[in-house]
Amino acid sequence: MILVTGGLGYIGSHTTVELLEEGFKVLVVDDLSNSSIEVLRGIERACGKKPFFERLSLNERMSVKSLFHNYRDIDGIIHFAASKAVGESVSRPLLYYDNNLTPLIYLLQEVEMLDRDIPIVFSSSCTVYGEPDTLPITEEAPLKKAKSPYGNTKRIGEEILADALRANKKLSTVILRYFNPIGAHDSLEIGELPIGTPQNLVPFITQTAMGRHEKLIVFGDDYPTPDGTCIRDYIHIVDLAKAHVTALQRTLKGEERNRYEVFNLGTGKGHSVYEVIDSFERVSGTKLNYEIGPRREGDVVEAYADVSRANEFLGWKADLSLDQAMMSAWKWEEKLRNTIKHR
Ligand code: UD1
Repeated sequence: MILVTGGLGYIGSHTTVELLEEGFKVLVVDDLSNSSIEVLRGIERACGKKPFFERLSLNERMSVKSLFHNYRDIDGIIHFAASKAVGESVSRPLLYYDNNLTPLIYLLQEVEMLDRDIPIVFSSSCTVYGEPDTLPITEEAPLKKAKSPYGNTKRIGEEILADALRANKKLSTVILRYFNPIGAHDSLEIGELPIGTPQNLVPFITQTAMGRHEKLIVFGDDYPTPDGTCIRDYIHIVDLAKAHVTALQRTLKGEERNRYEVFNLGTGKGHSVYEVIDSFERVSGTKLNYEIGPRREGDVVEAYADVSRANEFLGWKADLSLDQAMMSAWKWEEKLRNTIKHR
């Protein structure tokens, strides 16, 4: 059985579907702090299979203990559970350090107590690279001081794992550094569900086109890039979810190169904010209302992944294009609108 923490979140739910489709038994744990129980039903409808589900907070020691006591056949863990709002992490740093690091420590302590190798796949972010010195970004690029407590929790999470593994030869981990996940599952049963006003580009675009916001503000068009807007590596959520299954399967089979591995997960291609808007307008046939505003503090100019390590060692690469991702994001937004209308 695979334990998926934060399994009702955006990346967690898509990964759960891929795991179930590959025939894994899955235990989803989620405290519903930033997700909805409806997502559980969405997962079931998307793949016709049901994960086990426990609603609990992993920053409570006794809850984690009883989880491992009640489910004795956990063979692997994919740890997504975390808070992810960059701005909120600046105003509530202690909440972020607690939510994003305490559960990792408790999970590692439980795994240490079991006399089995239970690999942990850790959800990290390209944010650990900060403003990169060279592009595309390889896993060997130096890690930079985080620009927010959120970013710092990802870096510290990686370091906690590294230290724990040095001390305990039975532990193993795969660190996955995500670039910018976007889009929704083909079935349109699951997708991104931002609570409140989205801070990320793609849900803000689709919500604006749906009339929920007056306009998108493009955060700066005077950057040193070909069209002046920032460049990111946008990866379809389904491609990203599949990479988790591949990474886990390989470790479960004992095919990993070493007990601590790090992989970038992106497409390897960079797209500017204007290119994302163009793609959206093309695939949706809808004009987007937008205007140029000031730069957003903390934004890096350009970030896209060197994915050769994941290609070579995981045998994985992103298959879906920016247009396909934007199309699915738009269809998902339309579905959300229709669902709300019919309620
Ligand atoms: C952001 C976080 C990053 C986190 C990631 C998770 C910041 C500074 N970074 O990454 O730490 O890991 O989300 O998904 O918050 N943009 C606009 N207008 C908008 C929104 C975004 O122009 O209303 C631009 C941004 O300037 C950026 C691009 O769109 O160039 C992508 O932004 P976003 O989706 O927020 O992702 P990141 O900033 O890459």
